[in-house]
Amino acid sequence: MKNNYVPMSTQPLLSATGLCKTFGGVKAVQHAGIEVATGSITGLIGPNGAGKTTFFNLLSNFIRPDSGRIQLNGRDIHTMQPHQIARLGMVRTFQVAKALSRMSVLENMLLGAKNPAGEKIWEVLLKPKLVQSQQRELKDKAMSILTSVGLSAKANDYAGGLSGGQRKLLEIGRALMADPQLILLDEPAAGVNPRLIEDICGHILNWRKHGLTFLIIEHNMDVIMTLCDRVWVLAEGTNLVDGTPNTVQNDSRVIEAYLGID
Ligand SMILES: Nc1ncnc2c1ncn2[C@@H]1O[C@H](COP(=O)(O)OP(=O)(O)OP(=O)(O)O)[C@@H](O)[C@H]1O
Ligand SMILES: [Mg+2]
Repeated sequence: MKNNYVPMSTQPLLSATGLCKTFGGVKAVQHAGIEVATGSITGLIGPNGAGKTTFFNLLSNFIRPDSGRIQLNGRDIHTMQPHQIARLGMVRTFQVAKALSRMSVLENMLLGAKNPAGEKIWEVLLKPKLVQSQQRELKDKAMSILTSVGLSAKANDYAGGLSGGQRKLLEIGRALMADPQLILLDEPAAGVNPRLIEDICGHILNWRKHGLTFLIIEHNMDVIMTLCDRVWVLAEGTNLVDGTPNTVQNDSRVIEAYLGID
């Protein structure tokens, strides 16, 4: 008889197998998979157009896979809506930070909260005190996250006035408002000045120390080498190699894929 027992300690927090997505004639992702261990910082790298962002969109169900399976904590999530997946503990950020520029930094943060009180009119009418106190708590939480990323002084400024790096931090901060277990970051260092990249890396390492797990797409190899425990490489929509950052960086198949040598 087949033993299907998987010990808890080895069950990945997130796993995906056989993911496929075709856009018209373009096979953006072909039978790709990944495993993200609990408490890890896992990297996803690959040349431009390799399918990394599409892969993230599939993992978070912003687009539906043509086929494949995704599990979070052993639970199938590929049939769920993004907000249901967020409620189960997985949130993502976008390659182009999606801060709403005509809203304040604090208001952007509050958008990331899970089930904010006062969303339903009957709550406001019937339980105004409860709504007020929950909103105060959320504001305090948002301010403490903003303080931790050095953005508290900007809380009442328009998000549109932030630099590229500050927008990335705001996006990660907003993701933290949902109390996630796992955060998917799409190029957190892109367009960010080197000083702020160091800050972002420091914050990520610190959040991991506090129990968060990360899956990070990044072209900046210094960031990958500094942060990641394990790296997965995608090329032409499919898995090429995975391993420690060092092994992957020195793998001739990876070097060839980046140089575009056939
Ligand atoms: N919505 C879409 N419609 C059509 N083609 C798409 C769509 N999204 C992605 N593609 C194509 O799928 C392929 C993979 O794109 P994707 O953005 O996932 O790559 P990437 O690895 O994130 O690249 P980069 O490193 O430049 O961000 C590309 O050929 C791209 O043009
Ligand atoms: Mg991309």
